[in-house]
Amino acid sequence: MVKPGKFSVIRTVPAMRRWAEKNGGICGFVPTLGALHDGHVSLIKKARSENRVAAVSIFVNPLQFRKKQYLAYPRNLEVDLEIARKAGANVVFAPSAEEMYPAGFETGVTLPQFFQRLKPQGLEWHYKGVLVVVLKLLQLVRPSKVYFGLKDPHQLVLIERMVADLNIPVTVRKCPTVRERDGLARSSRNALLTPDERKAAPVIFRALSHGKREMESGASCAQAMAGMREMISAQPLASVELVEIADALTLAPPGNRTRDVLIFAAVRIGGKRLADNVRFRLK
Ligand code: PAJ
Repeated sequence: MVKPGKFSVIRTVPAMRRWAEKNGGICGFVPTLGALHDGHVSLIKKARSENRVAAVSIFVNPLQFRKKQYLAYPRNLEVDLEIARKAGANVVFAPSAEEMYPAGFETGVTLPQFFQRLKPQGLEWHYKGVLVVVLKLLQLVRPSKVYFGLKDPHQLVLIERMVADLNIPVTVRKCPTVRERDGLARSSRNALLTPDERKAAPVIFRALSHGKREMESGASCAQAMAGMREMISAQPLASVELVEIADALTLAPPGNRTRDVLIFAAVRIGGKRLADNVRFRLK
């Protein structure tokens, strides 16, 4: 149980700067889009347990969404504030879009070349938007540690690269994926599933676990991927968008010497895109 401690909500950039001057150096920071669930809670608890203070941001970042998704993203600040406070957050930064992107905002970042080799391709604009907001948030909160989930491996590897390339003075902490009892990874999108779709959704983690077992018993990547696709396709409500196996450390295609393996799947369940992954070490 984390002691709740002092708690405040900050809505503006100048107020966040003032807070950071005093607390940044002793702070663990968890950036989020809100709609907080147990996955976020595990990050906040970890941030609080490893630092004197924990900061959370709740900001639906327009740069990483298409207009329709941006408008539809679930927002319930009051509920989120209570979840964050109970998990041990000391401050929540919840700025408006205008506060983060005032008129005239223009500067962006480019993605590293290695991203071109990675899938999901066609989502460059999304990942650029993620990097810009994370960079801005790190400048404002100035934490000593920042916490991300292994649930989003592409985002994570890009952030680690950006932190190294731009000499951002922060340690990136990676946290395991929190799941429902039946294996489904916690996600704000799960709430959009109908009861039948919710019943079908654990097929994603079952297929990933199957792929892992296959590879551990010597199957090739091609064999493991074919088995996973077959399992997912057998579920009428599910359709595979992407199954890939990569080196877990670089996300490059695995080579003969790859030991740390990541299997990633993006699956549409009743039209809703759910993504999940497993990582493991081959002997
Ligand atoms: P969001 O989807 O809200 O996720 C915030 C953090 O929670 C991310 O680091 C994500 O990997 C982690 N997370 C999500 N589901 C999880 C689960 N089931 N178990 C453990 N961790 C989980 O990712 C974003 O927001 C945004 O792109 C952001 C980084 C905040 C930039 O806008």
